[in-house]
Amino acid sequence: MKPVFPDTNAIAHAADLLRKGRLVAFPTETVYGLGADASNPDAVAGIFKAKGRPTDHPLIVHIADIDSLADWASTVPDAALKLADRFWPGPLAMILNKKPEVPLAVTGGQQTVGLRMPDHPVALALLKSFGGGIAAPSANRFCRISPTQALHVYEELGNSVDMILDGGACQVGVESTIIDLSGNKPRLLRPGLITSQEIADILKTDINIPQASKPTEIRVPGMMEVHYAPSTPAMLYPAEQLPDRIRLLQTSGKKCGLLSCQLEITETSQLCVLRLPQQADAYAQRFYAALRELDSLQLDLILVEKPLQTEPWQAINDRLRKATTAYLHSL
Ligand code: TXA
Ligand code: MG
Repeated sequence: MKPVFPDTNAIAHAADLLRKGRLVAFPTETVYGLGADASNPDAVAGIFKAKGRPTDHPLIVHIADIDSLADWASTVPDAALKLADRFWPGPLAMILNKKPEVPLAVTGGQQTVGLRMPDHPVALALLKSFGGGIAAPSANRFCRISPTQALHVYEELGNSVDMILDGGACQVGVESTIIDLSGNKPRLLRPGLITSQEIADILKTDINIPQASKPTEIRVPGMMEVHYAPSTPAMLYPAEQLPDRIRLLQTSGKKCGLLSCQLEITETSQLCVLRLPQQADAYAQRFYAALRELDSLQLDLILVEKPLQTEPWQAINDRLRKATTAYLHSL
């Protein structure tokens, strides 16, 4: 199904499809989601099938308001209310202990559930019209680049989704921050636009950052989580090493793409350069689309200029590490 303009009729139709157990892709402020009725295990099974995702990977349930937390979580801790008050609607997902009636199909068999109120008028209108929780992972095939435009969803999933609502390009551009509040101490499971420091400031406590989420940590093979990788091999280099590296690759006849930020390098017939903004937020907004564009050019290699290692770049560095390690480990 080609993407459709999300007017009132389209949204009512989309909500109806969800009620019938069908799949609807919709925009959020982070990336596009592939949605199904979170209370219907058969509908949720359709998500895993369309994405080609293993069924033990839990999904985030999208909700229309803060009050709906209590429909999914067995208890809503104070920390969750504080964070929701400050950051919702917005790019923060919280992991809480689930109510017994929440289907295990949604939680990947776990006793916890991921919850988020997205900050996008189309997503919120759909949630309101539907009247329940919408389970939605990013609307890409398993391990591929997340879609930030409706057309990306169509390219990824084609007719395996019943409707695609077109809300334009996503504002944030990388997936939500995930904070696990189900244990004794808050744990950052995935960095996003909302930083661990901002969360720590609201909760007035330290946040546990598991090894794999630390931007500087080198991954150990076998301990890697899911990659968000292009199909073209991609490698990360500090700006100062790039000119030499590019020269070397070109003399060996390789066709390369370069995702740069600070570095200015002239394009050649063997080198396609996409330059992204130097501000982290603006970079993030265009990042996946740029990677997707380079990936479509049948190149031998994508080179990425390593961004700053400062806090605003946390989410981008995390995604870049995931997009590039696959190649490094295969060397
Ligand atoms: O920004 C986003 O969060 C987007 C949009 C569509 O809202 N969604 C998204 O979903 O990125 P997905 O499925 O691609 O990533 C969800 C992540 C997965 O890594 C999953 O492991 C984690 O959330 N997750 C969900 N529920 C969980 C749970 N109960 N415990 C631990 N991790 C959980
Ligand atoms: Mg995803």
